[in-house]
Amino acid sequence: MDPASFRAAAHAAVDVMADYLEGVRDRDVMPNVEPGTLRPLFAQTPPESPEPMAEILADYKRLFEPNVTHWQHPRFLAYFGSSASGPGIIGEMLTAVLNSNPMLWRTSPVGTELEQVVIDWIRQALGLPVGFDGLITDTASTSSMLSLAAARQAIGIDAAAKGLPSRDDVPQLRVYCSEEAHSSIEKACMTLGLGRAAVSKIPTNDRFELRIDALEAAIAADTAAGIRPMALVCTIGTTSTTSRDPVAAMAKIAKREGIWLHVDAAYAGVVAIIPELRGSFEGWEDADSIVTNAHKWWFAPVDASILLTRRMPVLRDAFSLVPEYLRTLDRDGPIRDYNEYTPTLGRRLRALKMWMHLRYFGLEGLRRRVKHHLEMAVRLAAWVDADPNFERMAPVPFSTVCLRYLPASLAGRQNEPDMAEKIDDLNVRLMDAVNRTGKTFLSHTRINGRLTIRVAISNLRTEDDDLELVWDVLRREAAALPLPA
Ligand SMILES: Cc1ncc(COP(=O)(O)O)c(C=O)c1O
Repeated sequence: MDPASFRAAAHAAVDVMADYLEGVRDRDVMPNVEPGTLRPLFAQTPPESPEPMAEILADYKRLFEPNVTHWQHPRFLAYFGSSASGPGIIGEMLTAVLNSNPMLWRTSPVGTELEQVVIDWIRQALGLPVGFDGLITDTASTSSMLSLAAARQAIGIDAAAKGLPSRDDVPQLRVYCSEEAHSSIEKACMTLGLGRAAVSKIPTNDRFELRIDALEAAIAADTAAGIRPMALVCTIGTTSTTSRDPVAAMAKIAKREGIWLHVDAAYAGVVAIIPELRGSFEGWEDADSIVTNAHKWWFAPVDASILLTRRMPVLRDAFSLVPEYLRTLDRDGPIRDYNEYTPTLGRRLRALKMWMHLRYFGLEGLRRRVKHHLEMAVRLAAWVDADPNFERMAPVPFSTVCLRYLPASLAGRQNEPDMAEKIDDLNVRLMDAVNRTGKTFLSHTRINGRLTIRVAISNLRTEDDDLELVWDVLRREAAALPLPA
């Protein structure tokens, strides 16, 4: 593609992008398609002859846009939203043009040093002390896996060099998190050769926060049995209910035990940019590592996960392996070659879009939007509380409301045989009916064993009217459902 053709095609593509963003609000959030119906729409054999870009773009509009789930839709309120800002998207476009790979300083000098700048901006924005450094990864799952690899390295068994199998000098290792922690913690242990058996899931209190007494008991029992504590994982903003583990108390225990404290604030970390709301995070400055996902509630395009750590040298020990061809022979002084801190060599340049995104909004702009989401969640929680046919299932510390349909006529019959399951089923049908309207997309969890609908308000484009519409749709679809006998 010569430069003139590139210019013309790229201009056309930008029009497609702008049209999409302009019209996304009017689309159904989820496409009305069945599994397996999309693959046959595409050519089943690879193109033998070149095709014109205009035709490819037309096919993109015809085949892709109508069949995608619209994460950019203001009423995508499922899971935790990931909505890409305009400046972030432009940053992604420029990143693609440079196609720069910041694996070594010399393969992307400004990419490497801008990553350091962005990490330090975020550290400052979150009110964390000097000493936290870090890197940008693809996802929180990766960030937590890297953190636990560093935690394993920190206990001095040098698993990076010696591995784990068949070592009689290494006891069984344990990672503690609450039973509400994200599955990525277990996946990290699977990946690191510790196995899911290494994870001790500590019970929570009635606010779904890790119970310190239960953590102490688990550590004591393990230690007595010869099992070695390796890391504590504290979640601030758990996936189901957005509960907050007591980070300050966990930091004290980690210090006493001489083990790593990792804070998973993938969703809620951004709230710490609002100084008056830092209470939930007090004590996280003593963590060894912290993750917050810029592609969640910070509104950066996927992917961008911010991993902050006070112990970069330990992270490097866990992953550094420099073959001859990657040695930088012609420079003295401190060089940050980011590949030494990750399992991969090549990496995406994610700092450019972050730099553009953060400059465009300013912390002030981000704070305003995050506060608005928090206010909307308070409002929705109040509507739920006031409605005799709905029940709120958890406190609302951040911007996610957990609710279920519990018709007043059934509320007194919950102890009847099978009634709990029937109410669960009613909520499954309600969520399906709501999602089928195309007006919104909501997802579910289970709280205290009961099926629960989550409304996660963290999408850049969600406005007050959207929330009102979602609440109307929920009540209208609920009223239309036949009730169990
Ligand atoms: C608390 C928490 N941690 C980690 C993750 C995993 O995030 P990612 O998809 O970036 O790996 C999630 C996902 O929602 C989450 O809620």
